[in-house]
Amino acid sequence: MSDQHISHLVAIVGAANVLLGDDTQSYVTDYRGVFRGEALAVVRPGCTDEVSAVMAYCHENRIPVVPQGGNTSLLGGSVPDASGQAVVLALARLNSIRHVDTLNATMVVEAGVTLNAARTTAEEAGTLFPLRIGSEGSCQIGGNLATNAGGTAVLRYGNMRDLVLGLEVVLADGKVWNGLRALRKDNAGYDLKHLFIGSEGTLGIITAAVLKLFPRPRAVCVALLGVDTLDAALQTFGLLRKRLGTDMTAFELISEDAMALVLSHLGRQTSPLPTSHLWHVLVELSSTANQEDADAIFVAALSDAAEKGLITDAAIAANETQAADFWLIREEISDAQTRARGSVRCDVSVPLSSIPAFIRETSDKVLTAAPGTRMVVYGHVGDGNVHFNPLRPADMTPEAYLDQYGDNISRIVDQAAMALQGSISAEHGVGTAKRDELLYVRSQVELEIGWRVKRALDPLNLLNRGKVLPELPSAA
Ligand code: FAD
Ligand code: LAC
Ligand code: ZN
Repeated sequence: MSDQHISHLVAIVGAANVLLGDDTQSYVTDYRGVFRGEALAVVRPGCTDEVSAVMAYCHENRIPVVPQGGNTSLLGGSVPDASGQAVVLALARLNSIRHVDTLNATMVVEAGVTLNAARTTAEEAGTLFPLRIGSEGSCQIGGNLATNAGGTAVLRYGNMRDLVLGLEVVLADGKVWNGLRALRKDNAGYDLKHLFIGSEGTLGIITAAVLKLFPRPRAVCVALLGVDTLDAALQTFGLLRKRLGTDMTAFELISEDAMALVLSHLGRQTSPLPTSHLWHVLVELSSTANQEDADAIFVAALSDAAEKGLITDAAIAANETQAADFWLIREEISDAQTRARGSVRCDVSVPLSSIPAFIRETSDKVLTAAPGTRMVVYGHVGDGNVHFNPLRPADMTPEAYLDQYGDNISRIVDQAAMALQGSISAEHGVGTAKRDELLYVRSQVELEIGWRVKRALDPLNLLNRGKVLPELPSAA
C-alpha cells in the first residue's frame, strides 16, 4: 500500500522530490536534535497546485501530513510522530518572491522563502520587513506565520500576525483559498487569515502571504548596558520608552549566567563592557531621522538613565560592525544553550510590571529545587517575554540534570508565570512539548472552541495530528 502511495506522490512532485528512508533523516529530527520521528515519505512540492494535489491525495487516502518549513521549531511542532505513517510536506521549494509593491508597502512571498531572503528582498527594494529572529537563515515565512513568530523587534513592529495582510492557504482536502489581499482596511466578513496564523500547521498549509513593508530606518543606534538590579532594568525601560517612544525597537535582557555562557560559546573572555554585571540590556533605537540627530537623542536618554543611577555602565556601538557584534552576542544565546545541552527551556510572558518579582522569586525556587543551576535568563523583556532557561551545573551531565529536575523546573516556572496572569508559551508555540499543559492553562470552553475549529477545517484530523490541541477528557 505504501508503495502505491509513493508512486502517486511521485506522479505529483517528481521522483527527486519524494524522499525515503535515510534521506528523510534531517526532516524527521528537529533543528536541536531533541525531537525525532519517522515518516512515510518527505514530499517537496514546487508550487501551490502541487501542494493542493498532494493534500487532495492524502485526504482521500487518510494519510496524515506534517507541514514543515525551516524545521527550527523549539517544541517539536515540525517533526512527525514515531508511527511512520505521516507525509512530511516540506515547503522549501515554494521560494519565489511573487511581487513587491513599494507604494502599497507590501510584498507577496511564497511560504518557503527564508526570513533572511524576505528581509534582503525588502532591503533591496529600499524598505524594511522587520521580523527579526536568530534562526532567520533557516526559518521560513510559512513557519513564521504558522508559529506567529515574535523575536527582537516586536516592541516596535509587533508579532508576525501584525506583519501580514493576506494569505494563500491549501486546505486539508486540497482546496485552495486565495486570500492574498493587500489591503489595510477590509472588514468584509471574518478575517480568516488569523485562524491560520499561529495554528502550527493544524488547520491548513500556508503557501504564500502578503507581507507589510515599513520605511527603512536611516539611523540605528545600539548599546549594551550594565545594570545592577531587575528593578533598575525595568525602570530604564520605562524611562527610555518615555524618551524614545516607538523608535525604541528592542530592549533585550541578558542575565550574568547567560552572558557567561554565550561568551564562552563565542570563544571570548569578556563582554563589550569592561566589568561584569548581574544584568545586561541590549537596547536599540531606529529612526528615520539622520544618524547624528538619532545619536544625540540616544546618548541623552542613556545619560539620563545613568544620572538617575539606573544603569551602571554602557557601551554604545560606534558603527554598524560593532552593532552587529552586540547583536551576535544576544542572538547566539539560544545556540550556546543547544551546544551546552541540559537546559530546561521555558518561554513565558508576564505583565511587564511583574517581571522583576517573577524572575527573582522563580530563580530562588529553581535554585532551591536544583542547587548549582546556572540561571540562563534572557529575552524580549520589553514585551514581557522571558526565556527562563535553567541550565545544568557544569559538573552534571545533561541527562542526569534533565531526568532529575527537568519536569519539576518546568512546572515551577510555568506555575509562577500563570500565578501572575502570564503565559506558558509567549512566542514559541505549543507543538507536542507544551500540548498537554494547555489542559491546565486553558478553560474547557476555550479548548472546545479549538477542537470545533479543527474539526471544521480538518475533519479527518490529518493535519499535524497530535500537535497543539490536547485530547479532551470528555468528548467536546
Ligand atoms: P518549522 O519549525 O518548520 O515549523 C514550525 C511549525 O509551523 C510546525 O508546527 C509546522 O508544522 C508549521 N509550519 C511550517 N511551515 C508551515 C506552512 N507553510 N504552513 C502551515 N504550517 C507550517 N521564535 C520566535 O518566535 N522568536 C525568536 O526570537 C526565535 N528565535 C529562535 C532562535 C533560534 C536559534 C532557533 C533555533 C529558533 C528560534 N525561534 C524563535 C523558533 C523558530 O525559529 C520559529 O518558531 C520559526 O517561526 C519557525 O519557522 P520554521 O520555518 O523553522 O518552521
Ligand atoms: C531567542 C529565541 C530562543 O529569543 O526565541 O533567542
Ligand atoms: Zn525569543
